[in-house]
Amino acid sequence: MFDLTGRVAVISGASSGLGSQMAKGFAKQGADLVIMARRLEKLETLAEEIRAEGVKCLPLKCDVTDSAQVDEAAKKAEEEFGKIDILVNCAGSAKNAGVLNMTNDEWDFTIDADMTSVFYVTRAFGNIMKKNNYGRIINIASMYGLVGNTALDTVAYHTSKGGVVNFTRAVAAELAKYNITCNAICPGYFDTELTHSTLITEEFTAYMKATVPVGRYGYAGELNPGAIFLASDEAAYVTGVILPIDGGYTCV
Ligand SMILES: NC(=O)c1ccc[n+]([C@@H]2O[C@H](COP(=O)([O-])OP(=O)(O)OC[C@H]3O[C@@H](n4cnc5c(N)ncnc54)[C@H](OP(=O)(O)O)[C@@H]3O)[C@@H](O)[C@H]2O)c1
Repeated sequence: MFDLTGRVAVISGASSGLGSQMAKGFAKQGADLVIMARRLEKLETLAEEIRAEGVKCLPLKCDVTDSAQVDEAAKKAEEEFGKIDILVNCAGSAKNAGVLNMTNDEWDFTIDADMTSVFYVTRAFGNIMKKNNYGRIINIASMYGLVGNTALDTVAYHTSKGGVVNFTRAVAAELAKYNITCNAICPGYFDTELTHSTLITEEFTAYMKATVPVGRYGYAGELNPGAIFLASDEAAYVTGVILPIDGGYTCV
């Protein structure tokens, strides 16, 4: 089960963190990969590692907040592989501020990076999936897309991830007729470039221990089993699902 051999998977935000971990996990399951981000050097290093698993890998420099760049990347990926089976929307970033102090630029930056980008990438690659009447779309939202929080003022991030959660349901309903599923994963706290400076503080670690039932940060690679399941042929009847992988943060 969950063999991805012969499948072509696109992962945005693959140059670091959760995206790069999923890219390696998908390659181990046999998928060919298209990996996207702005830092091409990092993608090329990862591509070497991925090819060592015996699969193909195409690194593409792409700013996902620029729809022209996204469309160009989709064109190149289709030229290279002739089809796209799996899309993981993982790219993301944030400017943290509270609702009373956030500037327009901080708001726009976060909504563009975390929500509008998911629309651009889904539109571009979803149209390729439609041609083949097959697709698995997995959006990396966040547990912060399901609830608020009392540790960190980050209203635009909550808003955009909440948007991704309901975008997922709408797309699942709309694209089911093309045999395309769309699901979201809502990660909890994982130590990555995006979160490291916040997570390492004693204060935040104490907050995490008090609010995450499992009592620890997520380990590298702990999103992979959920993502691989949702990407697999076997998950054909699973769509519109919002899957928290958060150590229980959203269950209490
Ligand atoms: N870590 C957590 O605790 C956590 C929790 C919940 C949700 N998430 C979500 O998980 C996803 C991955 O985050 P991460 O924690 O792995 O952080 P990360 O290590 O900082 O990775 C973010 C990735 O997104 C890419 N990216 C950012 N802006 C981009 C843009 N405009 N165009 C293209 N690529 C862009 C970055 O690549 P370049 O800089 O090379 O472009 C990088 O590969 C994000 O959507 C994040 O919101 C993370």
